[in-house]
Amino acid sequence: MAATTVLAFDVYGTLIDTHGVVTELEARLGRSGKEGMAAEFSRRWRDKQLEYSFRRGLMGAYVPFGQCTREALDFTDRALQAQLADVDKEHLMAVYARLPAFPEATEALARLSAAGMRCVAFSNGTFEAVDGLLEQAGLRERFEDVISVDEVKRFKPDPAVYAYLRNRLDVAPGDTWLISSNPFDVIGARHAGLHAAWVRRSLDAPFDPWGIEPDLTVPDLVALANRLG
Ligand code: 2OP
Repeated sequence: MAATTVLAFDVYGTLIDTHGVVTELEARLGRSGKEGMAAEFSRRWRDKQLEYSFRRGLMGAYVPFGQCTREALDFTDRALQAQLADVDKEHLMAVYARLPAFPEATEALARLSAAGMRCVAFSNGTFEAVDGLLEQAGLRERFEDVISVDEVKRFKPDPAVYAYLRNRLDVAPGDTWLISSNPFDVIGARHAGLHAAWVRRSLDAPFDPWGIEPDLTVPDLVALANRLG
């Protein structure tokens, strides 16, 4: 593969394991005997966070992704009647800023860079949020840049964000790969003319039946390095 190949990595769920939120939720919800709802709370929180980004994109009412995350937390608390205190929510938001990397990420990124790939992080999160998150996760040095949709005030999968990515990278669509665990992101990138690899971390995770398929499906980032490196 040409040395100009650029891999643009999605962050939450692809590089960074959001499961750390469940552990904190179990602790916070456990104070009112509701620790059993932690996994459902985490899932609904993530779904609502993304729904807010989609709705705000359609409305032209962009706000930083962290605000979508916080408002989705407040909604989920109301929907599940979890009655989290403000201090609990502040702690949960702080956890989002210090989530761990998936264990295979460092090895995979090192192998891909050694094979001549350019690696960037590409996220709905703001530059500051993602730069800090990757730094504390020990991954920041693996990326030549952090590219945030915040620069264009749109969210994935708006075609404008993938066009911005390409303009920032100054490479042809055929040399640009989007790497993501999120099918909406994979489809958005393919629709915008980029290659895309789906990191299907859950073997039973379904893909959307749109007829727009990933170029590559892998179970984790080492498998990606085995295919692309
Ligand atoms: C991202 O990091 C939302 O996971 C998505 O852009």
